[in-house]
Amino acid sequence: MLELYNAGHSAVVVDNLSNSNPFSLGRVAKIIGVEAIPFYEVDIRDCAGIERVFAEHKFDACIHFAGLKVVGESVEKPLEYYDNNIAGTLVLVEVMRNHDYKNIIFSSRATVYGDPV
Ligand SMILES: NC(=O)c1ccc[n+]([C@@H]2O[C@H](COP(=O)([O-])OP(=O)(O)OC[C@H]3O[C@@H](n4cnc5c(N)ncnc54)[C@H](O)[C@@H]3O)[C@@H](O)[C@H]2O)c1
Repeated sequence: MLELYNAGHSAVVVDNLSNSNPFSLGRVAKIIGVEAIPFYEVDIRDCAGIERVFAEHKFDACIHFAGLKVVGESVEKPLEYYDNNIAGTLVLVEVMRNHDYKNIIFSSRATVYGDPV
C-alpha cells in the first residue's frame, strides 16, 4: 500500500476481515499520511457486494490478495479453501469483466512452482 501511494496511486481495499483487523488499515493510513483509505467489508464471493465496489469507484487495476493460504489447514478443509480461493477469484474476475477491467495482479504462492533454480 505504501509503495502504491508513494508511486502516486491510491487504493480501495476490500476484505472480509476473516484474517485481518480493520484497525490495521487506520495505521497504514497514518503511515502514508492520508486521512483514511476507502474500505469495504465485503467477501469477494459476494457478487452484489463486489459489484457495488466497482460501481462506486474507477480503477486502473485490481490486486488480488484475498486468499486463504495455510497449507495444513488447506488439507484439513479443502472444500472451504477451493470455495474461498477459486469461487472468490471467479466472482472477482466476472465483475471485472462486467465493468470491462482487464488488469489484475494475482498473488499466487511461490511453493506452487516447486523448487526451481
Ligand atoms: N505471505 C507471503 O509471503 C506471500 C507471498 C506470496 C504470495 N502470497 C499470497 O498472497 C495472498 C495473501 O497472503 P497474505 O500473506 O497477505 O495473507 P493474509 O491472510 O495476511 O491476507 C489475506 C487477506 O485476505 C482476506 N480474505 C481472505 N479471504 C477473503 C474473501 N473471501 N473475501 C475477502 N477477503 C478475504 C483476509 O481477511 C486477509 O486480510 C495468498 O494468496 C498468499 O498465498 C503470500
